[in-house]
Amino acid sequence: MNNNSNIDVLVIGELNVDLILNEIESFPEMGKEKLADKMDLVLGSSSAIFSSNLSALGAKVAFIGKIGDDLFGNLVLKSLAKKKVLIDYIKIDSSLKTGATIVLNFGEDRAMVTHPGAMEHLSFADIDTTEIRNSKHLHVSSVFLQPGVKKDIIEIFRTAKDNGLTTSLDPQWDPAEKWDIELEKLLPFVDVFIPNETEIKKLTNENNINNAVESLRQYANTIVIKRGNKGSVVWNKGEISDIPAFTNNNVVDAIGAGDSFDAGFIFQFVKGKDLVECQRFANLMGALNTTAPGGTAAFTDYNSIMELAREKFGYEEKVSEP
Ligand SMILES: Nc1ncnc2c1ncn2[C@@H]1O[C@H](COP(=O)(O)OP(=O)(O)O)[C@@H](O)[C@H]1O
Ligand SMILES: [Mg+2]
Repeated sequence: MNNNSNIDVLVIGELNVDLILNEIESFPEMGKEKLADKMDLVLGSSSAIFSSNLSALGAKVAFIGKIGDDLFGNLVLKSLAKKKVLIDYIKIDSSLKTGATIVLNFGEDRAMVTHPGAMEHLSFADIDTTEIRNSKHLHVSSVFLQPGVKKDIIEIFRTAKDNGLTTSLDPQWDPAEKWDIELEKLLPFVDVFIPNETEIKKLTNENNINNAVESLRQYANTIVIKRGNKGSVVWNKGEISDIPAFTNNNVVDAIGAGDSFDAGFIFQFVKGKDLVECQRFANLMGALNTTAPGGTAAFTDYNSIMELAREKFGYEEKVSEP
């Protein structure tokens, strides 16, 4: 089985850069040129935010994704490596382009255009099973952005379970809004399923979370539902834990809150902590995420994250922390 694994969490996910334009004089118009006063080119993607923040907490994280052999690809690799995420398993395909999202910010609102590029081409065939065997836990995110991964998603999770890993899945949004994954076949291999409230309703075609959970209870192990400033609900074999969010009266933005929540949950889960502790820490990471711009700015290393948690939310660690 899986005793010699040196990676805590293996992430299979999408990779792209975000080109963010701020302070744009007015909305784009066909045939005209507008100026944006501010611009940032940064690592994008939910899976990368999850990995960076989990690594910042101190877990050993390895990433499997696909990029092109180009400038954006280099930025992705450098940014992940800077966060100490293991990048050796990232596949580079020179015939493809690294994905990019152009974000046009207008006050609280934004317009985005994404070229998925290489992320659409990662498939199970690219993944060496030793990469899976070297890990204790598999996390997959953004399945609908990765048709190659989606096609083999059941096989990927089955392989992880066959090799003794624990597993988690954050489905994220389906841009096609088809929500077509076979949950009844997939969820038996997923230890922790972590959608947000809208996503679980869409996936099950139900209009409230109780019915959504009810429709999955035969196949699912643990279901964790993210509910923004309402906190989260964890369902585990009929037991429900509803924990309200930490109160943040100065939300900067909620970009990446769900990914930071996932990182907090899985950080404790791989340490074998009970589900309530995982959930409480997940809520904390989600809330901390909203105290700084974007998905990673609030997280540098474990001690400063805990310091920020005390300062912002009066959070105290349990003395039993290893
Ligand atoms: N405004 C907020 N105040 C406090 N906590 C928040 C806030 N927004 C999100 N969180 C925390 O982050 C978690 C994930 O955020 P959510 O927006 O629900 O995820 P997603 O980004 O996947 O939609 C929530 O369950 C909650 O614990
Ligand atoms: Mg999300």
